[in-house]
Amino acid sequence: MTNATIPKPKGLTAIRRLEWILDPVTYLERTKADTPDFFEEDSLGFGYGSVIITSHPEALQFILSRDRKTFDAPGELNSILAPILGDNSVIMISGDRHKERRQLVAPAFHGERLDVYGEMICELTRAAAATLKPGEPFAARNLTQQVSLQIIFKVVFGLDESLRSQQIMSLLTQTVDSLGSPFAALMLFFSSLQKDLGPWSPWGKIVRMRSQLDELMYAEIRERLATADPTRTDILSMLISARTESGEALSEQELHDELMALLVAGHETTATAIAWVMYWVHKQPEVKARLLAELDGLGPEATPTEISQLPYLGAVCQETLRRSPVAMFTFPRVAQEPVTLMGQSFQPGSVFLGCIFLTHQREDLYPNPHDFRPERFLERKFSPYEFIPFGNGSRRCVGAALAQYELKLAVATMLRHYQFRLASDRPEMAKRRGVTLAPAQGVPMIFVGER
Ligand code: HEM
Repeated sequence: MTNATIPKPKGLTAIRRLEWILDPVTYLERTKADTPDFFEEDSLGFGYGSVIITSHPEALQFILSRDRKTFDAPGELNSILAPILGDNSVIMISGDRHKERRQLVAPAFHGERLDVYGEMICELTRAAAATLKPGEPFAARNLTQQVSLQIIFKVVFGLDESLRSQQIMSLLTQTVDSLGSPFAALMLFFSSLQKDLGPWSPWGKIVRMRSQLDELMYAEIRERLATADPTRTDILSMLISARTESGEALSEQELHDELMALLVAGHETTATAIAWVMYWVHKQPEVKARLLAELDGLGPEATPTEISQLPYLGAVCQETLRRSPVAMFTFPRVAQEPVTLMGQSFQPGSVFLGCIFLTHQREDLYPNPHDFRPERFLERKFSPYEFIPFGNGSRRCVGAALAQYELKLAVATMLRHYQFRLASDRPEMAKRRGVTLAPAQGVPMIFVGER
């Protein structure tokens, strides 16, 4: 639905679309220069047509605070993720079914449940870092992916060290890694490239990994359905005992898709964020010194809750999510009625995306936005439409509290117990990883030793 008065980025649509897929940071920074606040793009390849993209906090507030009323957030528009996540997870479903599913899964990632995960997060981080040898080079993102996958696996499935669990985690890593490069992402954005041309073809490999993964996931689900234990508090057990308003249990396919979505969304993003914190902290010695001083002020017996309440650690994590956001956009919202937004009129059916990346780059909110300066978050409180790493409204990230807790505890654990340094002075750039942004080199580091 084209709107004549909304600016469009310059250049040919097809070229812009390729640039957006292969080099999203350049694409977004260029559009910011041409069309601040609002622009309309013909198609970003998400499977729907023209879309209005905004990075203005007032517009974001208008759209996201009217979710389920003036705007809808249809799961079908997230279908680009369906080949990995299936069609029946919270991300893909809509309306009342979506609302009900969120109510089911969200409590597992909040409040008291977080206390239960705290020690586990610290232990898993410590154990992963302990496998490194002094002087050993490693990519921080690989290490943090191992840690975040193990954490979300335990949250989702409960404690489980079986061979099947190891196989599921290994296949999950291979599947998401296989879509990790910008070129591999072309397969997500151009469904015509999703052709199984045999086991060695790029999509053929993914199809085969997915089907092995599905087999193992269904085997686990069936075993757990047969031995349901009401005392277990993991998400699979909760979903198994949950009933919809009409009294129905979730089908095996719904259980499978929900678990896949939580496993993928719950570790890919967090792994990237932890790796970025490690980068920024080691890139700026004054940040590292202030953070270490704060961490060293804690006694050796500090609890995860005490660690998570440290103000500078919190500011470092927030500044990381601002400066190096993992998600570029919110999920799409669709106007259900004619709307006037910042003086512009839009027809029902207009699709909107909140641009997290550009909101976090706004000079009026974050002077010198390319600088990494955690103090911003100590000097000023930003509204949830100015600092928006987890989106907002009816599809706000269900794992936001867990992600922030995990980020703080994983970073604090690594810095309190070990010493690291960056392997090179070269700046780490952000590049596409599936539908997210991640450090292009994976943050190459050297493990110095214990502290
Ligand atoms: C740093 C880590 C993370 C970031 C930056 C992030 C970011 C986001 C964003 C931007 C959205 C879309 C929000 C919107 O449209 O308003 C989202 C949705 C979602 N996230 Fe996260 N996320 C992170 C970690 C997690 C974790 C740990 C989990 C799982 C435990 C998770 C599960 C989900 C799910 C299930 C949705 C879809 C919610 C819905 O459709 O109702 N995320 N996330």
